[in-house]
Amino acid sequence: MSTDSTTGTQDTPSTSEQLASRGDSRSQRPTNEAFRRFIASGWDETVPDAERREAADHTPARRDALVRRLPATRLVLPAGVLKVRSNDTDYPFRPDTAFAYYTGLGTDEEPDSVLVVEPSAEDPERAEATYFFKPRAGFDSSEFFADSRYGEMWVGRRPTLEEASQRLGISVRHIDDLRDHLAKDVGANLSLSVMPGVDAGVEAMVAEIREQNGLPGGEEAAEQFARLKEAASEQRLVKDEHEIAQMREAVAATIRGFEDVVRHLPEAVAHARGERVIEGVFARTARADGNGVGYDTIAAAGDHACTLHWIRNDGKVRTEDLVLIDAGVEVDSLYTADITRTLPVSGTFSPAQRKVYEAVLEAADAAFAVARPGLRFRDLHATAMEVIARHLEQWGLLPGTAAESLSPEGQWHRRWMVHGTSHHLGLDVHDCAQARREMYLDAELEPGMIFTIEPGLYFKENDLLVPAELRGIGVRIEDDVLVTADGVENLSAAAPRRPDDVEEWMAQLAAQGQVIGPRP
Ligand code: GLY
Ligand code: MN
Ligand code: MN
Repeated sequence: MSTDSTTGTQDTPSTSEQLASRGDSRSQRPTNEAFRRFIASGWDETVPDAERREAADHTPARRDALVRRLPATRLVLPAGVLKVRSNDTDYPFRPDTAFAYYTGLGTDEEPDSVLVVEPSAEDPERAEATYFFKPRAGFDSSEFFADSRYGEMWVGRRPTLEEASQRLGISVRHIDDLRDHLAKDVGANLSLSVMPGVDAGVEAMVAEIREQNGLPGGEEAAEQFARLKEAASEQRLVKDEHEIAQMREAVAATIRGFEDVVRHLPEAVAHARGERVIEGVFARTARADGNGVGYDTIAAAGDHACTLHWIRNDGKVRTEDLVLIDAGVEVDSLYTADITRTLPVSGTFSPAQRKVYEAVLEAADAAFAVARPGLRFRDLHATAMEVIARHLEQWGLLPGTAAESLSPEGQWHRRWMVHGTSHHLGLDVHDCAQARREMYLDAELEPGMIFTIEPGLYFKENDLLVPAELRGIGVRIEDDVLVTADGVENLSAAAPRRPDDVEEWMAQLAAQGQVIGPRP
């Protein structure tokens, strides 16, 4: 579709207008007054009722916790800006994660908008929140029909102020009022901080207001902004009830996507770039049932599985190979699953494939067996590595014992698994990544945490240290895990992971033919 964004009403634009609109030289849109009056008229002005979002029952507690952690500070959380993909075409918008967490907004809501959270005047332990955004433009505005980036005729309708307030359960204001609101009372008793790296324009506004009101800039300001980022990351380490429900939905949709992929393996095998067929089938499910994929799908057949972030996905899927599929559906609230299954394309593991697979499964099971409240996060990895090192020793691959390999001076086993075993999961696939070490790796597991368990073994085709029968075999098994009061729940248990169960599951799905569904 061609964009056409000339909005001028003069017949002969000035030289500077001509220069400014050089990109619009393709425009053939009428600019006469009669057209402008005509296109502004005859529209139904009824505004449908906006429903309060379920998340609105949970965001107040999240914001209260944030102001208690960062007292006497007005906190600015921008959604972010549209990013150009090429010329006048933008990438689909995804709001910043912290913004989504504290507003409850999701999908593509809402470029250039900003949430402001501050201690309430009556009770500094409670948060007051105001949402600033660019509300729907009137039918009589040129934006309505002529602005290909924001106009209702081009990108759809934005909410009115009233609708946004009903949905979020907080007060809302026009984005043009943001500067005045940010500057009010800032000084000795009220600081001003902003989530860094999200919206350069809002960051510049905050820097200017800080300077005008005697607050430090430079390193000191940057440190204060980094503390906001850290706080938002650490607060998400333990998920609330609503987040856990969203994660269950993301996992369920992801498993449906895997089932759709398995049903379409014959199509993948038949295609010269079968990995792309897998990527496409999963993307269809992710987009139809959720907001999209939570990260680029890894569809890695044969030796490609040994390239940890293989997202080019342009390889063949051969019947005799394994295919490693690492994929996650992000639901509309932006929570994502992160699941890997490594499947025999033929439907049956070969003895060599099964040997590697069972070693990885044993490592995953060992991590599951120790996971419970009180365990240090880092010990999930240590536990899985003990199993991996033991198998590699038994197979004669280590230049010493497993015990030596597990010591800090050894670590030879890591040649065949260079990634970690677990990461937190939620709104970001690698969630809570700005949390301090003592809150993440060195912290104890707590009920409500959600993370992955994902050991693997990767024997590259050109690895001369492994026997020929293992070369070109890469296996990862990745599950999404919720910490409960006395143990863990495998949220992704409905996707079979034991080799016999995988084979049975694949046979059942193959018998259904190359269909999508069924859907709930
Ligand atoms: N899909 C990326 C990861 O497993 O961490
Ligand atoms: Mn992962
Ligand atoms: Mn993954």
